[in-house]
Amino acid sequence: MRLIVCKNYDEISKKASELVKNIMLENPNPIFGFATGSSPIGMYENLIEMNKKGEIDFSNAVSVNLDEYMDIDEDNPQSYHYFMHDNLFSHINIKKENVHIPSASSDTFEEDIKKYNEVLDSVGTRDVQILGIGRNGHIAFNEPNDKLNLRTNIVDLKKSTIEANSRFFEKEEDVPTKAISMGLEDIFNSKMIILLASGAKKHDAIQNLINSPYLDLQNPSTTLHLHNNFVLIVDEDAYNG
Ligand code: GLP
Repeated sequence: MRLIVCKNYDEISKKASELVKNIMLENPNPIFGFATGSSPIGMYENLIEMNKKGEIDFSNAVSVNLDEYMDIDEDNPQSYHYFMHDNLFSHINIKKENVHIPSASSDTFEEDIKKYNEVLDSVGTRDVQILGIGRNGHIAFNEPNDKLNLRTNIVDLKKSTIEANSRFFEKEEDVPTKAISMGLEDIFNSKMIILLASGAKKHDAIQNLINSPYLDLQNPSTTLHLHNNFVLIVDEDAYNG
């Protein structure tokens, strides 16, 4: 693991976007794993800016996203489809057909899981996987559990996740209780993994991730120690509490 402690949110965003830019300068056909949440928004803003200035080009880029709530319309402003288009894809020159975001409904979830695993298989190894972290240590929507999914699956969201994510909804009851999420094997199928964390609310999860002497399935992010190019970028509040 490579740990980078930055002063604040702007600095983590700058650092992460520079790493992504370097990857893009070396490889004109980059494959991305993108994430939702407030943590990568600043990085996305920088990438949009760089793309507008012509410093980076997404015309041959491919992207796969980590997760999506179950039974949510893609045009619902709380959906991860909406988030990704609003915060990144509609502002850069990526081709629509190269953007992949999972979706699942209660009626078709088995087919939806299969379909997304097929997408992941055809896209193959990513150049960089961007991650945030839940307050309980979840990555994508892989929640603390006795067993962690290796591949895409439907997951039950923990109460603490529903509470944390309710800040984006009108009321807590509106937060979906299930999601479709990429599993650990697919998250790991990337040449580099960058996890971004900011703010004191992430302190416990980050300290547990850094210091855990074993794989702690109650903090799924600890599995990232097994990846040989894992970069953890945190701000001082997330690091020091
Ligand atoms: C959600 C997402 C995760 C994300 C996490 C943290 O639960 N499924 O992929 O990492 O939130 O979000 P934030 O960056 O807003 O703290």
